[in-house]
Amino acid sequence: MSTNLRPESMERITTIELAQKFIEEQIAEIRAQVGDKKVLLALSGGVDSSVVAALLIKAIGKQLVCVHVNHGLMRKGESEAVIQMFGKELDANLIYVDATDRFLDLLAGVSEPEKKRKIIGAEFINVFADEARKLEGVSYLAQGTIYPDILESIKAAEGKKAVKSHHNVGGLPEDLQFELVEPIKLLFKDEVRVVGEALGLPHAMVYRQPFPGPGLGVRCLGAITRDRLHALREADAILREEFDNCGLAEKVWQYFIAVPDIKSVGVKDESRYEGWPAIIRAINTKDAMTATIEEIPYDILHKITYRITHEVEGINRVLFDLTPKPIGTIEWE
Ligand code: XMP
Repeated sequence: MSTNLRPESMERITTIELAQKFIEEQIAEIRAQVGDKKVLLALSGGVDSSVVAALLIKAIGKQLVCVHVNHGLMRKGESEAVIQMFGKELDANLIYVDATDRFLDLLAGVSEPEKKRKIIGAEFINVFADEARKLEGVSYLAQGTIYPDILESIKAAEGKKAVKSHHNVGGLPEDLQFELVEPIKLLFKDEVRVVGEALGLPHAMVYRQPFPGPGLGVRCLGAITRDRLHALREADAILREEFDNCGLAEKVWQYFIAVPDIKSVGVKDESRYEGWPAIIRAINTKDAMTATIEEIPYDILHKITYRITHEVEGINRVLFDLTPKPIGTIEWE
C-alpha cells in the first residue's frame, strides 16, 4: 500500500495553473507507461471517470477505448450526455452498451437491498468483461480511483465493517488481467474537479452531485419494476430542473427522489387514482459520513409537488424526508 500513499510534500491542487502542471506531468507519465498500447476505461459519466477519460484522450487519443455501460438505472439524459461529450465533442473511441434488459431482467422480483447491490455490481463486471473480450490488443485498464477510495480500502483491509456494499468497478475475471492506469489516485475530490475544469470539461459535469454506482436501482425501493423506475426517473428530472432554476443545485450537496413500492389512494379527474409517493431527499454533508437536511422554501416544494403529481404518470403524492444521517443513510437502500 505504501506506494499508494500521498506524499506529505504533495501540493494541494487549488488553482487552474496547478492543475495544468499536474496534467502535463500525468500526460508524460501515461505516455511513458503505456507506449503505443491500448487502454480500456469504464466511463460512467461521473466526475472521476470523466476526468480520467479527458486526461487519457489528451495523452493517448484513440489508444483509449471507453466503454459506457447503460445499466438502465441512469438518470434521465445521462447516457446521452456521455455520448455527446465524449463520443461527439471529444471524438473519443467510445463503445456504448445498452444493457438495460440484462440488468432489469436479473433484478425482477429482487427486493432485498444488499442483494440488489450485489446483482448490479456483478452484472456490471460481466457486461464490461464481455466488451473487453471483444477487443484486441488491450494491455491496460484505466480507473478513476481517487485518494478517499485508497483510504477506504485501507480501512476495509483493517477489518472495519461497512454499512452497505458500495460498488464501483470491482475485480475483473481471471482471464482479463490488465495493468492499471490510475492517474488521479492521489487526488481528493475537490482537486479532481479543478483538474476537470483545467481539462475543459463542462462545469455541470465537473460539479455534478455524487451518484451511486447502482444508480436509480437503490432509489426504486424494493423490487424494481419498469413502470415505477420510469416514474422515478421522470420525477427526479423535474426535481433537478427545479433545483437548477432556483439556484439550489449549486448549494445542496445531494438531492434526489426515491420511490417506494407502496401505493396510496388519490383522486384525479374526479376518479380514484392510486399511485406511488415520490420522496424528496436533499442533504448537505462534507464527507457523506454524516448529513443534515437542507431547508427547502415551501414555494419551491409546492411547485415541485405540483409538477411531479401532474406530469408523472403513477405518482400521486410528494413527501419530504427530514431525516439526518445518522440515523438515516443518505440513500434509502
Ligand atoms: P449512504 O447511503 O451510505 O451514502 O449514506 C453515502 C454516499 O455514497 C453514495 N453511494 C454510493 N456511491 N457507489 C458509489 O460510488 C455505491 O454503491 C454507493 N451507494 C451509495 C451515496 O449516494 C452518498 O453520496
